[in-house]
Amino acid sequence: MCGIVGAIAPQDVSPVLVEGLRRLEYRGYDSTGVAVAPQAGTLCLRRAVGKVAMLQQRLDAAPCVGPIGIAHSRWATHGGVTEANAHPHVSGDRIALIHNGIIENYVELRSELVAKGYAFASETDTEVIAHLVHDHVKLGLDLTAAVQQAVRRLTGAYAIVVFDAQQPDRIVVARIASPLVVGLAEGANYVASDVQALLPVTKRFQFLEEGDVADIRRDSVTIFDADGHPVQRPVHESSLSADAVERGEYAHYMLKEIHEQPRAIADTLSERIVSDHVLEAAFGPRAAQVLPLVQQVHIVACGTSYHAGLVARYYLEQGARIPCTVEVASEYRYRNPVVMPGTLFLAISQSGETADTLAALREARKLGYVATAAICNVPESSLVRESDLVLMTRAGPEVGVASTKAFTTQLAALGLLGLAIAQRRGIDRRIVALYTRQMRQVPEMVEHTLKLDAAIRGWAQAFSDKHHALFLGRGPTWPIAMEGALKLKEISYIHAEAYAAGELKHGPLALVDHDMPVIAVAPNNTLLEKLKSNLQEVRARGGRLFVFADPNTGIEPSEGVDVITMPDHIEPLQAPLVYTIPLQLLSYHVAVLRGTDVDQPRNLAKSVTVE
Ligand code: G6P
Repeated sequence: MCGIVGAIAPQDVSPVLVEGLRRLEYRGYDSTGVAVAPQAGTLCLRRAVGKVAMLQQRLDAAPCVGPIGIAHSRWATHGGVTEANAHPHVSGDRIALIHNGIIENYVELRSELVAKGYAFASETDTEVIAHLVHDHVKLGLDLTAAVQQAVRRLTGAYAIVVFDAQQPDRIVVARIASPLVVGLAEGANYVASDVQALLPVTKRFQFLEEGDVADIRRDSVTIFDADGHPVQRPVHESSLSADAVERGEYAHYMLKEIHEQPRAIADTLSERIVSDHVLEAAFGPRAAQVLPLVQQVHIVACGTSYHAGLVARYYLEQGARIPCTVEVASEYRYRNPVVMPGTLFLAISQSGETADTLAALREARKLGYVATAAICNVPESSLVRESDLVLMTRAGPEVGVASTKAFTTQLAALGLLGLAIAQRRGIDRRIVALYTRQMRQVPEMVEHTLKLDAAIRGWAQAFSDKHHALFLGRGPTWPIAMEGALKLKEISYIHAEAYAAGELKHGPLALVDHDMPVIAVAPNNTLLEKLKSNLQEVRARGGRLFVFADPNTGIEPSEGVDVITMPDHIEPLQAPLVYTIPLQLLSYHVAVLRGTDVDQPRNLAKSVTVE
């Protein structure tokens, strides 16, 4: 969601702040800002609507130079996208503050502060925190104590970073339900919402926990827990490289990430399968104790990760013969679900910071599940730290807002989970071994499928002037059709819907005409003949079909039917992963033709850390 960076160093920090924002830009990007204290008593503030490049232009024209500063990229929640609403927010010409999250009681706090004489310059919930801190500082409290007092008044979610231009010896930060990481270096210290921002300046990090407040100075970091007691948080060395988020030769991050999938899937499977057997230890030290107790699985996730969960239901029920339910986290968290004995709660999330998914996990911990588990791509994330069992996807940093490699690596990880549970449930060892071998073949199949790129690009023209598109699938590739529709709408802004092909006749068929392209995924499985009948229903109404078909389906190109033939011998277990690839490429090429911002589509954010 919003990006946060702060720095205190012997030299000018503004280049580090702007580079940090640039590295976080994919997370939220409707406005940006920076505040620096050039010397004690002065505050230099620059803000701009738009991307980091706009802020950079402002800074080039009128630099802010100083050894302490904070910077923010915003994804609007309270208040429109205006310069006045961009962070940092300032109080009394001395307190500069940035914030991620949502303050729920800001209306009440605002009235209280207005009554005390504070004038508000923005419509944001954030500005109340700046004035609240100022209100305490002006009474003589030092900044750390002022922040500790101020946050006691807040309800909601926040990561805040603040400095006082009149005492520019420290940055003070606090968090609840929104991530913050302190970066440690020699004679300089940093803070950010994500390690990515700080990798050019340090690899040593301390992750703040719920309720922590930290006093960050040039040569020391003091952390206090929610009760105000000094605490030590472990120092982690990050293995990520600073250039893992560079785009290289590719026109867009999304294209790069699509092409990284064979390696990402192979990495996710590697070292976790030995002699056709999934190693339970891959899920963490508690797995051997928990997995024998699992009688059913309850999956909760958002967006693309939710679609991965829908595929997993087929893996778990058809493959491992264990009941599985799947739902979106924003509904789950308020539904007060009934939990049957022996149920494993599984959260799936690329970022591990999605507010609804995290809230669902925290709710689940109270509900009597046999254990909680996470499939996640970010080792340092809150989701990973708070789950009993964890299986990391190894996709590497994903920058494109539309998720690609994170999704297919989630499917690979879910395949491993299905196999681990199948092993425990006494499914025939030969079947488990066969499925395990099939999983290992997926990276190579994905590699072959990527070679269809030119043919898929050839199709894009037929979509670029359309307003709607319909995606069809059946069985485990129905969620793949859903993911294909989501990709198309996210990055090309074409309205797209996905249906289980058998549902076509119950409504969506009414929409089909020559202006509604219908995309179908047709692997060779037991539902093929049924799918073919559904496609006939489309043709009979004059609908134009675009089919990604297995070579043995007998679906041939004809008038109104375009076919791209997929690689041969894709097994049902492999089909969800492999058939995802052409749908990603199709959306990508359509978006490029339509000239949209592929990596940072309008109104969206990579990691949604607010409810
Ligand atoms: C946002 C992103 C999606 C992502 C969803 C869930 O909406 O734009 O790409 O699927 O959040 O994110 P998570 O990190 O929990 O997988």
